Amino acid sequence: MYRTVYSPQGARVNLDGREVINMASNNYLGLASHPDVIQAAKKALDAYGVGTTASRNIVGNFPVHNELEKALAKYKDVEATLVFNCGVSANTGVIPFLVGKGDVIYSDELNHGSIIDGCRLSRAQIKVYRHKDMASLEELLKEPVKGKKLIVTDGVFSMDGDLAPLPEIADLADQYGAMFMVDDAHGDGVMGPMGRGTVDHFGLRHRVYVETGSLSKAFGSAGGFVAGSKEFIEALRPKARSFIFTASPMAPCLAAAALKVIKMVSEDESYVKKLWENREYFARRITKLGLNIGSTVTPIIPVIVGDEALAQKMSQDLFEKGIFAQAILFPMVPKGAARLRVMISAGHTKEDLDLAANAIEESAKAMGII
Ligand SMILES: Cc1ncc(COP(=O)(O)O)c(C=O)c1O
Repeated sequence: MYRTVYSPQGARVNLDGREVINMASNNYLGLASHPDVIQAAKKALDAYGVGTTASRNIVGNFPVHNELEKALAKYKDVEATLVFNCGVSANTGVIPFLVGKGDVIYSDELNHGSIIDGCRLSRAQIKVYRHKDMASLEELLKEPVKGKKLIVTDGVFSMDGDLAPLPEIADLADQYGAMFMVDDAHGDGVMGPMGRGTVDHFGLRHRVYVETGSLSKAFGSAGGFVAGSKEFIEALRPKARSFIFTASPMAPCLAAAALKVIKMVSEDESYVKKLWENREYFARRITKLGLNIGSTVTPIIPVIVGDEALAQKMSQDLFEKGIFAQAILFPMVPKGAARLRVMISAGHTKEDLDLAANAIEESAKAMGII
């Protein structure tokens, strides 16, 4: 059975009746239950009610959807965006629009499951390259192809917190005439200037054909989006199946909440700065202990212990100490790479981070990991 949260999302939550420091949610900027965000959602609830009860292309499109798409485009520095009900739908909607039978997709072996599903739905041939391995990608790109080519990657990999080598991929995409798509669900609101994402972190804004993202993580709401040129988005709008066939597009209150967060983050760099201060502080403490955090450079900090039973035991031990960090096991990560996935938020105080690091140290010592 799943654990149950009896409080708003935050640095501390009531989980199964117990107050714990939450080191497991994607609430990177700590804004999921910010009073101004709740207020914005409430206002939209009063104005537009709860559900849309129709797809956006029929009678489910509200002013907040239009405003959100404009604000997102401005924030991401792209011509246009299209909002979906979640990141999974954005990926499963856009990939089959980009490619089909006779085309080829080049996909990193650690890409998110929703990218994999989008690839499968497209009926294009899927060629999987080794994680971040440009020689492996190029080897596949050299094979002859009659149709279109699409390279797709996560910007930030969700289980390891490492970054895709976007500049090198962009070069290969140019060299071999492939479209280039980045899913930046964990980079938006986190990476780059003002948290505009991993593409901007690398200064590649005009070299990526299409981006997908999620509003359920740094933006503290729910929903997904596709970002690209105006022409591309207008072509996608009547065609993406996960967009046109759903009568449950993003609820207006969720759109209003995401819109509020984007405004806050666009006007005030301190949320993103705080996230990075916390991330650096915590990563330093954990590294000093001699724990293996892999190749993370982001607020996703895996504490890799290897053995599955050990990861589960450690997660339970931490829970009893008042800290919640999720154990991640096969098939989410390869066999022998079980871990605790620790997620850092701007909402954590230094005390939260110290308590979490102390508990991890104590637990790791008790279990003979360090
Ligand atoms: C890389 C990546 N893409 C897409 C998604 C899906 O986003 P959403 O939660 O909005 O469906 C996730 C969510 O976990 C993700 O990690």
